[in-house]
Amino acid sequence: MEINNRITAILIENYGIEATSIEQRPGGWSALAFFVEDQCKKYFLKVYNKRKPSIAPYIDAIDRYTPLIKWMYNHTDLKNNLANPIFTKYKSNKCEDEQYVYLLSEYIEGTTIGDKQLSQNHVNELAKILGLLHMNTSNIPNGLKQQQVNENFDIDFCENLYSFIKKDLENKDNRVLEIVKPYTGTLLEKINRKRYLSNTLISKPYQFVLSHADAHNWNVMQGEYLVLIDWECLKLAPQEQDLILIITEPYAGQFVNEYRKYMKYESPDFDAFEFYFLKRKLEDIWEWIKNLRFEGHIRSEEVTLELLKLSLDSCTRTESFRSEIQEVFN
Ligand SMILES: Nc1ncnc2c1ncn2[C@@H]1O[C@H](COP(=O)(O)OP(=O)(O)O)[C@@H](O)[C@H]1O
Ligand SMILES: [Mg+2]
Repeated sequence: MEINNRITAILIENYGIEATSIEQRPGGWSALAFFVEDQCKKYFLKVYNKRKPSIAPYIDAIDRYTPLIKWMYNHTDLKNNLANPIFTKYKSNKCEDEQYVYLLSEYIEGTTIGDKQLSQNHVNELAKILGLLHMNTSNIPNGLKQQQVNENFDIDFCENLYSFIKKDLENKDNRVLEIVKPYTGTLLEKINRKRYLSNTLISKPYQFVLSHADAHNWNVMQGEYLVLIDWECLKLAPQEQDLILIITEPYAGQFVNEYRKYMKYESPDFDAFEFYFLKRKLEDIWEWIKNLRFEGHIRSEEVTLELLKLSLDSCTRTESFRSEIQEVFN
């Protein structure tokens, strides 16, 4: 069945919405995105393909984060900074047919920050949003909190990357080998460092906070207020999980000052910062390699190879990371 017909049927059956307009919009990585309108209201619909195994974790996450967003929408000062999720007639977070899972929320009239720079006001707003989110960890009802994923500092993908370098890389004479080969020394060193950091962090007595864990500019929209969207990675984690995204930016100092108005932050954990920093670098590298060697390309081979090369280069330039971020707190 054509996707718009499916959506029309799903909206009537599950939400009682008679759509007058359904338009596909540029989506993100996990789902197709649609603008939906009826006689009185605009909506945003995410459509997840159940037949793609790599999408399963995103679908599983819906029942964890949606009730929590709803709770924060109704009980915290974050109301204006969230897209209110819309439940079905049957009080379910999502609905589905044999091929797709559907997630409906309020439509945010505005633009995604995307590859634009955050303005000073944006930085302050984002600091406030993350500060309030972290601060509210202690107010969330226990039942909702217990459903959330706890950070366990696992580095499974690193071990996959490790065994790829050791066993598979040389097995095929192609451009992945050509590009990755000069970097294998650096990669193995970073993987070892990641193992060390993971072990160190596991044994620390943390007070975890509720973390969005993916608050990059493509998940921030400027509407009437600044809105943080796409809560698929939500988890309980150290504060550094969210702060890593801004800590290497020129506005890190301003962000931290503003953040501290809402949430206590006395002793930055530089091991945790380094853990999340390396995670992002190595995850990107592994993602491009998987696309090229195993899963097929999302973008063209040429572009993916270029992105892999850029990620490898940026991974070699991580030596001064710790001293640079220490300056933010001096
Ligand atoms: N509630 C919304 N209203 C309007 N546009 C939205 C809304 N939620 C997301 N978008 C737009 O759709 C894009 C993809 O949504 P997102 O939730 O980030 O999906 P993904 O998980 O696929 O990254 C966003 O970058 C934003 O431009
Ligand atoms: Mg997104």
